[in-house]
Amino acid sequence: MPRAVIAAEAGDASVLRVREAEVREPGVGEVLVRTAYAGVNFADVFMRRGLGAGPFPFTPGVEGSGVVEAVGPGVDTAAPGDRVAWAPVRAASSVGSYADLAVIGAEQAVPVPDDVSLRTAAAVLLQGLTAHYLVHDQHPVGPGVTVLVHAAAGGTGRTAVRWLHHLGATVFATVGGAAKAAVAAEAGADHVIDYTRTDFADEVLRLTGGRGVDYVVDGVGAGTFRGDLRAVADRGRVCVFGQAAGLPEAFSPMELIPRSITVSGGYMTNFLRDRAEVLGTADRVWSGVREGWLAPLVHAALPLEEAAEAHRLLENRETVGKLVLATGGDAS
Ligand SMILES: NC(=O)c1ccc[n+]([C@@H]2O[C@H](COP(=O)([O-])OP(=O)(O)OC[C@H]3O[C@@H](n4cnc5c(N)ncnc54)[C@H](OP(=O)(O)O)[C@@H]3O)[C@@H](O)[C@H]2O)c1
Repeated sequence: MPRAVIAAEAGDASVLRVREAEVREPGVGEVLVRTAYAGVNFADVFMRRGLGAGPFPFTPGVEGSGVVEAVGPGVDTAAPGDRVAWAPVRAASSVGSYADLAVIGAEQAVPVPDDVSLRTAAAVLLQGLTAHYLVHDQHPVGPGVTVLVHAAAGGTGRTAVRWLHHLGATVFATVGGAAKAAVAAEAGADHVIDYTRTDFADEVLRLTGGRGVDYVVDGVGAGTFRGDLRAVADRGRVCVFGQAAGLPEAFSPMELIPRSITVSGGYMTNFLRDRAEVLGTADRVWSGVREGWLAPLVHAALPLEEAAEAHRLLENRETVGKLVLATGGDAS
């Protein structure tokens, strides 16, 4: 009998339990995948806490990789035996990756090239698609452009640092602690600030001679957003794309006027409007992996039974890079 992690009710990580699970046939526009790995993302933590999830009980996991077992009616973009990975590229995307078998929307399933392992695919796809819009679609980035990335040793932050470094930007990174500082520096950050010990906005202003940075990438939210408005240069941009620490502090648009600052939001699905854009962006992610400059750092590949521990590690800031769950379906 296949297994699945079930979140029986909203709560802390202890609500996650592995159970034997019935698996339904894929419906119209769906594929059934034997999973190899599930990506563990902060979005999963929010859903487990009861924010944005469907009705409980449910199986978490918006990202994964594996091999297609069967396709539903009308699906001509995947076939049994295909190696695929998936991420929430649509507003109404599937959950259920923390399982031996998962039914996902066919439009989410992206072919994984032969030279990319299923482990790497599950560790990089969601963060890669996110970093792509952060570095290509929000603000012009390249040599001479200064960018501040928060939580820069984390899954999304580290991926963004690597991509920004690849494009030649000067990267300022914040991290919680010395071990994470080493990870951010290795990823390509030019200046690393431990924001648990230092006021990061003061430090950015000091390092830039009072000018600030052109662009701030903030997935932390609470405790950072106010500093972002100080650390960003005149006519600069702050992109808020997450709230790992909680909701950003409230602000008035009037505060932006004197220095002509732009504050924008970022959400992956808005930058992946159709199948061609999903496949094209995924190809850029696979190329980055192949060429080495985007190689993901896998914090650990934990067994499905340790899903609760995975959530504890992620929400207690005890991970660097990306956590995945190994479901045993990786035959490569
Ligand atoms: N909008 C989108 O398209 C999109 C896509 C992907 C992710 N996201 C968002 O991006 C954020 C990061 O996601 P991720 O999965 O890559 O996670 P992650 O960065 O690997 O982990 C979160 C990191 O946030 C930092 N953090 C600061 N305060 C925290 C707190 N109070 N609790 C927990 N973490 C805290 C920690 O790093 P330090 O210890 O270094 O501070 C922690 O390691 C999340 O808010 C997520 O929802 C948004």
